[in-house]
This record gives sequence, C-alpha cells and structure tokens, in this order.
Amino acid sequence: MADIENEAGVDRAFRRDVLAGFESRPRAIPARWFYDRRGSELFEDITDLPEYYPTRVERSILDTRSSDIAAAVGPGKAVVEFGSGSSSKTPLLLNAIQPAAYVPIDISGDFLRDSAKALSGDFPGLDVRPVEADFTQPVSLPGEIDGIPKLGFFPGSTIGNFIPPSAVDFLRAMKATLGTGSLLLIGMDRIKDEETLVRAYDDSAGVTAAFNLNLLERINRELDGDIPIAAFRHRAIWNDMLARIEMHIEAQSDVGFTVAGQSFAMATGDTIHTENSHKYGPRDARILLRAGGWTVTEEWTDPEDQFALLLAEAQPKRTAP
Ligand code: AVI
Repeated sequence: MADIENEAGVDRAFRRDVLAGFESRPRAIPARWFYDRRGSELFEDITDLPEYYPTRVERSILDTRSSDIAAAVGPGKAVVEFGSGSSSKTPLLLNAIQPAAYVPIDISGDFLRDSAKALSGDFPGLDVRPVEADFTQPVSLPGEIDGIPKLGFFPGSTIGNFIPPSAVDFLRAMKATLGTGSLLLIGMDRIKDEETLVRAYDDSAGVTAAFNLNLLERINRELDGDIPIAAFRHRAIWNDMLARIEMHIEAQSDVGFTVAGQSFAMATGDTIHTENSHKYGPRDARILLRAGGWTVTEEWTDPEDQFALLLAEAQPKRTAP
C-alpha cells in the first residue's frame, strides 16, 4: 500500500475516488472506503443486529450442515479464504472438514496477522500461511501448498457488493488463484421480501446509518473536508430491476462544502451512492458462478431459504457444448 500514500499520509486513491465521486452524476463513492478502523468496528456491530440476518443465518447453515459440507468437500484440502478479515466463520468450516492447511488472504496486513495468530492458537498443528494481497486479482499462493487440492472460501455474501461484471472478473481471478479442479464454498444472499431487505440495511438502532455516514466523517478527517454531516441522512433502497439494496447518503437541505481544497454543492434530495448489495435467486447464483468459470455441485440453505452456501468446481475451459 506504500505506493499510494503521499507524504502527508493521505491515501491518494481515497482522494481520487472521493473527488471523482462528487464530480460524477449520479454521485458515487466506492464502498471499499467504508472500512477505516471505525467503519470496520461498525460493520462488526451490524453483523450482530437482529435485523441483519445474513451473518447469523450463514453461520447456522455452516453449523447445521457441517457433516454434509464435510462429505461434499472431503478431507485434506488447503482452505484459501478470500478477504478473511476477522476470520469469524472460519473455525466452523475448519472444525468440519479436516483441512491440510489454511491460507487467509487479506489486503490489511495487521488485521490478517492478528487473526491468523488467533486461529493458529485454536487449531494447533494446522499449517496456517497468511498472504497479504489484493484478493480481487490472481494471487500467488505459498509454494508449501503446491500439490494440495484447494478449497476457496468466500463467506459473507460479499460477492453481492460487486456489480455483476466485476463479480465475474473476481470469480475468474479466484479460479486463476486456485486452479482448475479446485472447489469454492461461497455465501450468497437470496432475493426476498422488500421489507426484510430494507430493514437489514436500515436498522432501528441506527448502526447501519452510522456506518454509512462514517464515510463523510472519514472524508472530513482524512481529506480536510468541512461536510456538514448533520445535513445528511442514510437511505437504504431496494432496486427491484437490478435486484439489489442500494445505500445512499441524502442531503436534507441545500449544502455547500469543500474537500481537499475543492468546492462542491448538493441540493435537497441529492444523494451520494455508497454501496450495492446484490441478491441472487437460485438460478441467478448458478449462472453468475458459471460465467466466472465455476459449476455449482451442491447448495445448502436455511429452512426459510434466506441465504445460500454454494459449493462449486473450477471447470476446465471448453469450446464445444
Ligand atoms: C460486506 N457486505 C457483505 C455487507 C452487505 O450486506 O452487503 C456490507 C453491509 N452494508 C451494510 N450492511 C452490511
């Protein structure tokens, strides 16, 4: 990351994305910038909210279907987790499948090393080899796991935060990282009634609102901004045509502000689009994976079909039907 930091410690990529985001119409800033220290803490709080079902339901699937998952995956796999973060669901999988090694990949080195250390303590004897890298691009895996069959693990429905063309690019990158014949266990959130979806992204305690508005706090702090945060509110909107929850930050009055020395104005009702969270029906999910080079072989859901864990295999390229 050192190459994108300037002397003043301001992340140039952050400044570039924010300034371009305020200039563009519709205004939009990539969701990756949510996750400063405060944003990461707020996201952890979101995962405990009663309205935010994905984390709870995915964990329950991993727990209740562990023996089916173990039978389908088989023992002796090197588990490669993409964007491992706090690795909170990993123990459920590792306990179930008798892995040969665990390779967490994350761009945030400190976080990665801390959680890899904690996990090594819980699984003595397991070969844990963290890799600090941008997991959305093909990654070189440690030579020590050459020759061991691989299981990619991408829980949390983060695939839904990519627009479909980027999701396909990312699935292809995972295939390039793991190799043909590898398996992938991936979490995907289902399309469901609008009320449940909107509540999951606009909770009664206001934690998701704080998570969204923290982006403005971060801009003010890191990019010398004077955005009047009280003039904005959080919005979560179900876009049925695109099958996604959209998060926006909406101006509640006409406002003017400066960021990194540049002036901007927003009128009442104008929004900054900050996140997409795409939801997938069963067939949509399979087609998305196929487009990325993966064929679904198994699928596990909860009794209400709120969330799905899919197991897919990286197919060799073929040119005929
Ligand atoms: C990280 N990602 C899967 C979350 C989601 O549900 O799309 C991010 C999130 N945004 C608001 N609440 C949760």
